[in-house]
Amino acid sequence: MERLQKVISNSGYTSRRKAEELILNNKVLVNNEIVNTLGYKVDDNDIIIVEGNLINKKVNYKYYILNKPREVISSVSDDKNRKTVIDIVKCSERIYPVGRLDYDTTGIILLTNDGYLANMLIHPSHKIYKTYIAKINGILNELDFKNIRNGIMIDQRKLTIDYLKVKNIDKIKNTSLIEVTIHEGRNHIIKRFFEALGYDVLKLSRIKFANLSLNDLKSGEYRELSKEEVKSLYELVK
Ligand code: URA
Repeated sequence: MERLQKVISNSGYTSRRKAEELILNNKVLVNNEIVNTLGYKVDDNDIIIVEGNLINKKVNYKYYILNKPREVISSVSDDKNRKTVIDIVKCSERIYPVGRLDYDTTGIILLTNDGYLANMLIHPSHKIYKTYIAKINGILNELDFKNIRNGIMIDQRKLTIDYLKVKNIDKIKNTSLIEVTIHEGRNHIIKRFFEALGYDVLKLSRIKFANLSLNDLKSGEYRELSKEEVKSLYELVK
């Protein structure tokens, strides 16, 4: 048995929040009766009709990775009409990005209509690793490394860095390229991490998400995941 709003959103008809609104607005029938309570549970035999449309519980799951360019929003729509990741990835199913990259951040982002896997991957308990390359306006010193080892406080919560490596230093321009791996998903977390150390992030790119890498995907390119890749994502959240 699953909650009605979850079954509706998992079918790809609409988001969980919109499904809740539809239920509360008497727009959902289960076995020909209006159901307008959010706790209602259904099973595979129940016939669900939303705004006159039969909900197909058998979903055609799709999984893509995109190398997100700069100046693209990682959500399904944008109130300022800016380009979104959904404008780039052509898919007949209602896919959405798993987690967020900032408007000016580039790199790997997963898109899917598999609500279960998406929720599992962003849940903090699963410690999904993400690797970024950040260009910062400075050069890390001994004190910075000591602070990083001890854990940096961001909004009264310690951020643990899983891996950090200085990839390149430009002494003339006073900039560095730093590779950072974290398992956190807080908003703007990499920028806030460097800000806490006193540096600005000039450029940010995500090169790895869970066990997925961009390999030869160029900016703006995307590809569907193989069955093996999807299976290995499921392994990570077991
Ligand atoms: N951290 C950031 O600051 N921005 C991103 O886009 C991702 C992680």
